[in-house]
Amino acid sequence: MKTVITYGTYDLIHYGHIRLLERAKALGDYLIVGVTADDYDKTRGKINVQQSLVERIQALEATGLADKIIVEEYEGQKIDDIKRYDVDIFAVGSDWKGHFDYLTEYCEVVYLERTAGVSSTEIRAQKRELHLGLRGAYNRMKKFLRESSFVNGVNISAACVSTEEGMKQCEKVLEYVTSDYDSLLDKVDAVYITSHPSKHYEDTKKALLRGRHVLCESPIALNRKECEELYDLAAEKGLVLMDGIKTAYATAYYRLFLLIQTGVIGKVVSIEATCTSLRDIYSEDAEKNAVVWNSTCEWGPTGLLPIFQALGTGYTDSRVVTRFFSEEQKLDLFTKFDFIYPDAVASLKVGNGVKSEGELIISGTNGYIIVPAPWWKTDYFEIRYENQEENRRQFYQLDGEGIRYEIVAFIKTIETGKNNSYISKEVSCEIAKVMEDFHNMRNVVKLS
Ligand code: CTP
Repeated sequence: MKTVITYGTYDLIHYGHIRLLERAKALGDYLIVGVTADDYDKTRGKINVQQSLVERIQALEATGLADKIIVEEYEGQKIDDIKRYDVDIFAVGSDWKGHFDYLTEYCEVVYLERTAGVSSTEIRAQKRELHLGLRGAYNRMKKFLRESSFVNGVNISAACVSTEEGMKQCEKVLEYVTSDYDSLLDKVDAVYITSHPSKHYEDTKKALLRGRHVLCESPIALNRKECEELYDLAAEKGLVLMDGIKTAYATAYYRLFLLIQTGVIGKVVSIEATCTSLRDIYSEDAEKNAVVWNSTCEWGPTGLLPIFQALGTGYTDSRVVTRFFSEEQKLDLFTKFDFIYPDAVASLKVGNGVKSEGELIISGTNGYIIVPAPWWKTDYFEIRYENQEENRRQFYQLDGEGIRYEIVAFIKTIETGKNNSYISKEVSCEIAKVMEDFHNMRNVVKLS
């Protein structure tokens, strides 16, 4: 019996796939088809796959062409599979010509002519693109704009920027640039807001009232009541409002939380997070100033994320120590937050004017997790135990600091109506509450 193996993503299965499978099957007696796992596709740069692994496998089964379907999860697996299943022929489309010649050591390699004029990418692109506008300071949009180019289904061609320099920069890369927010909203289906935190509530509300979906950098509002109001308004209008903390979508961070929930370090008793970056907060430059947020708004949401996601928002006491550059403008150089829970404690240090080691340590009753600096864009963490031999290191690919997956989650939520956000309304609103307490100087001690 001759065994043939072939691999692919098989997203939105099409005529090109069917023809490939038919010819692959005809090369032998038994056809094994390897379907790429969602994560493996992500690491290969295919992040817009529309169907889940289960849906893709079901569609493939329905063709009746595969005798066996397996899942491809890691680089190098093909060699393992060929040996394990005693494969005689490896077949793949001619778009891969030469790429798999290294497999000739293990079996025959056949490149089959690719069917012209059809691909999953094209089918995905035929769907109507989401027109996303940008609102805020140019320097804060740059990364987002670059990352959006990795995502199919979204088109960013318009922005509303307040400074002249920002407009000039935007005009180089975008078709439509305005300083009038209303005209931006006229042009788009959805908006990404990265204006100054004091404008988030107003900007988000205006967009929602105009029927536009919103992805807003955190904090969405500077007090809990307004944040809740915005989520309720979005729900009432059937619109998506998402909190834009990119770290929530970084693979290593996300996996870390899944692991904690399985109890790998026992019960979480303490969290220590630090986020700092020295910024030019003393600048007179308007474009730079539009970019300056105080340390609490700049880093607070990111640092509060692991605390609220692991321990919830039911802390019973909090204490804040801050050092201001300008108390009047609530521009803090450094702030330390402590949250006391009935059964745990958490502390967070943030700073735009003080530098420290940006690590995250989550301590539990059986062990702890350490995420080295800068933990908010990590690809690696370590689980450590009393017995060092049990320590485990975990590596994950980090693409675009999580931003491109955040954009995918936003688009998917809009398209499917199913909430794909990794940040709950409760976490988002409690972040706004911490901002509110800080700005109202509740439980805040000032350093001189
Ligand atoms: N294939 C083919 N003819 C096409 C499209 C795909 O022969 N028109 C083959 C590929 O060469 C591969 C298999 O089908 O051997 C699975 O390919 P896959 O990457 O899943 O499909 P694409 O349509 O190429 O997907 P994408 O556009 O996402 O790259």
